[in-house]
Amino acid sequence: MKEKIEALRQSFEQELQKAASSDAVEKLRVAYLGKKGSVTELLKGLKDVSAQEKKELGQHVNQLKKQVEENLARQVEAIQAAEEQREIDSAEQYDVTLPTAGAKGSYHPITIVQRQLEEIFVSMGFTVEDYPEIVTDYECFEAVNVPKDHPARDMQDTYYLENGQLLKTQTSAAQNAILRKYGAPCRAIFPGRCFRNEATDASHENTFFQMEGVMVDKDISISNLIYFMKTMLSEVFERDVKVRLRPGFFPFVEPGFELDINCLICGGEGCSTCHHSGWVELCPCGMIHPNVLKMGGVDPEEYTGFAFGLGLTRLVMMKYGVKDIRDLNSGNLKALGQFVHE
Ligand code: DAH
Repeated sequence: MKEKIEALRQSFEQELQKAASSDAVEKLRVAYLGKKGSVTELLKGLKDVSAQEKKELGQHVNQLKKQVEENLARQVEAIQAAEEQREIDSAEQYDVTLPTAGAKGSYHPITIVQRQLEEIFVSMGFTVEDYPEIVTDYECFEAVNVPKDHPARDMQDTYYLENGQLLKTQTSAAQNAILRKYGAPCRAIFPGRCFRNEATDASHENTFFQMEGVMVDKDISISNLIYFMKTMLSEVFERDVKVRLRPGFFPFVEPGFELDINCLICGGEGCSTCHHSGWVELCPCGMIHPNVLKMGGVDPEEYTGFAFGLGLTRLVMMKYGVKDIRDLNSGNLKALGQFVHE
C-alpha cells in the first residue's frame, strides 16, 4: 500500500503541473479527493489492513491528502493571479498626466438650473435644505397626509428596500422634517433626486429631480403662492412665460393646483414633450393641508402656508429645449457639455 501511496503522489504532482486552468484543477480535485477519488479510495481501503499497519499507513494517506489539498489551492491561486495580470496587461493604457484634447468638463444642466433657482429663492429669504434619498414610509407618505391605504399611493410606483425604507418618490418627503426643524414662520426650498418605477419615454424617467418649497407664516394665501411662482419662473426663463393654474389633487395641499407653462419647445403648437397639448405641467402646488402642518408641529389655527413641488428636470428641458428627458441621465458629454460653463 505504501508504494501505491507514493505512486499516487507522483502522478498527482505530474498532473498538477499540466493543469493550467481552473477547470482542469477542479477535475483533478474530483479525481483525487472526490467521492470516488483515488485518495478517498485509499482511505476507504484502510479498513482492510491490520490495526498495526492502519496507524502508519493512515498517517501516510492523510499526509498525501493534505498535500493534495494544499497544492490544489496553491495552483488555483496561481492561475487566478495570472489571469488578473493578463487582464491588466491587455487593458487600455493611458497617461493621466497628459493635457486633455480640449475637452473641458462642465456642470450638468440640472446643477446649473438648480443653483440658479437656489439663488433666486435665497434672495427672497428662503433657506436651502439638503435631504437624504433613502427615507421612511412615514416621511414620504404618512407625514404628508397619505396614509397606508390611500389611493394616491398608486400614482407613485415606489422602490421599496428590503429594510422597509424606500427611495424617495417626491421631495415632499422632507416637508415634515423641515417644518419640525424651523417651526413657523418658515421659508425653505429643498431640491433632490426622486425615483419612481416609470416606463421611460421622451418625458418620463425613473430618476428625476424636483425642487420643493414651503412658506409658512401668518396670513399666507394663494396670492403669495402665485406671486412667488411667477417671480421665480420669469427669473429662470429671463422672460415672461405664460402660465395657467388648474385645480389639482394632492393629499398634502388644500386647495391644490397644477401650474402649467406654455410649452417652450414648440411655443404652444404641440409636440411630443407636451404630449401635443401646448402646455407642460411644471409646478404642482397648493395651500398646505392642516394635517401636514399639525404633523409638523405647527398650529394650523394660527399659521397657513403654501408648498410647491417644482419639476426641476422638466424645467431644465424647457429652458434648454431638451426634447428627450433620457438625454439628461445619459452621461453623454456631447449632449450635456454644450451648456454654459460656469
Ligand atoms: N409631491 C408631488 C409629486 O411629486 C408634487 C407636489 C404637489 C408637491 C403639490 C407639493 C405640492 O409641495 O404642494 O407628485
